[in-house]
Amino acid sequence: MTTTNNKPRLKKMVVNDIVSMKNKEKISVITSYDYWSAKICDNSGIDIILVGDSGGMVMLGYNSTVPVNMKEMLIFSKAVSLGTKRSLIVSDMPFGSYQVGIKHAVRNAIRFIKTGSDAVKLEGGIEIIDRIKAIKEVGIPVMGHIGLKPQTTKLWEGYRVQGNTAIGGSQLLKEAIELEKAGVFAIVLEMVTSEVADLISRNVKIPTIGIGSGPHCDGQVLVLHDMLNLYDNIKPRFVKTYTNLSETILNSIHNYITDVKTGKFPEDRHSYKIEDKEFERLVKMIKTLRKKLS
Ligand code: KIV
Repeated sequence: MTTTNNKPRLKKMVVNDIVSMKNKEKISVITSYDYWSAKICDNSGIDIILVGDSGGMVMLGYNSTVPVNMKEMLIFSKAVSLGTKRSLIVSDMPFGSYQVGIKHAVRNAIRFIKTGSDAVKLEGGIEIIDRIKAIKEVGIPVMGHIGLKPQTTKLWEGYRVQGNTAIGGSQLLKEAIELEKAGVFAIVLEMVTSEVADLISRNVKIPTIGIGSGPHCDGQVLVLHDMLNLYDNIKPRFVKTYTNLSETILNSIHNYITDVKTGKFPEDRHSYKIEDKEFERLVKMIKTLRKKLS
């Protein structure tokens, strides 16, 4: 069903494939917001591509996930769906797209499915259960997201570890159980202490996807730009970088500038040729034209 040896998967992932991976195989999730990176992610054999609202920060330069809107998220989602053949695509519903009311939330969720996404993700717990149920009722799979909720946590307490007290931990467990009852197919746990993430993972039947929540979650998600070192405005401790693409890109552009300034680029192999005979004709034509004009 999935690939553990980094080969492109053969068949399109569906939500039930993800659910059935619990306790069998860890689920790999990565963000993408555009056609070319989605194509690479899809070819890597990743299980889920998340069109995260983090795209507002890493693609558009906003200083949090709050400003990104439906129009921008729909463009990201469309581009990702055009570049994806096999991974499951989950799109983040941005702040403001599901808070106002049930109808509004359902309408916006449908807009994501129309772009080619397979599911939507909503940040929140008990306070948004009615919207999760309503979206699921029209047939759209929903992924939950609790712990640090960047759309709103920032407004109240800033970016902080969640579930580091008995009360906090029990509240998170309660929320996870309520989300499961409401019908979400998986839950993102963001910046939750390892112990509490483990407790939640063992007490729900659906997969948990951790980000900064330790090794016991059923899967892991990272922001593509963080793991490639393409975004250095915020670098949380939980990010593992696998390469330094910023440096590679910078060096490549420096080399390009040098080649342009020194005439090393373009070479003959980068240029197009007119046939000698045609060029001679052209020179003659210009000579005749010049005579006529003088
Ligand atoms: O927007 C995003 O990238 C996310 C992940 C942090 C889970 O929601």
